[in-house]
Amino acid sequence: MQRTFAIIKPDAYAAGHQGAILSRIQQEGLRIVAAKSLRLSTQQAQGFYAVHKERPFFGDLVTFMTEGPVLALVLEGENAIKRWRDIMGPTNASAAPKTTLRGQFGTNIERNATHGSDAPETAAYEIGFFFSGLELAGL
Ligand code: RTP
Ligand code: MG
Repeated sequence: MQRTFAIIKPDAYAAGHQGAILSRIQQEGLRIVAAKSLRLSTQQAQGFYAVHKERPFFGDLVTFMTEGPVLALVLEGENAIKRWRDIMGPTNASAAPKTTLRGQFGTNIERNATHGSDAPETAAYEIGFFFSGLELAGL
């Protein structure tokens, strides 16, 4: 069993796609371990995406991720990291297949509806960024 970290980003949250996305996660056989809504501060979004801080799109990304509430999720299943990335589809929502969440609910390369961890180390870091050990105890 593997855990990954997911976000329903501000665009999909504001559009009310949480239910459809959670439903898809469950249909795909991933378990929703934990979930919480929150609105990121600028500092929190900068910290979460610190790996991208030298990229030209960093400022826009932080503005986007702080524009409204998000839903943070811990998902679990066999090979959960890759499976969730496949369900999301490619980063650029405008080129993503309509069978993927980004193809269905995203708009472009930035406003792409969902986030997913890309490796076991990032999953562990990102889960710990959003959820405390106490919040995950027994889940
Ligand atoms: P994520 O981390 O959110 O799951 O997305 P990802 O791995 O597919 O893509 P990544 O390269 O990590 O980029 C993080 C997020 O930054 C925004 N982005 N904007 N304007 C641009 O060229 C650009 N490129 C990336 C997207 O919101 C992307 O998901
Ligand atoms: Mg990424």
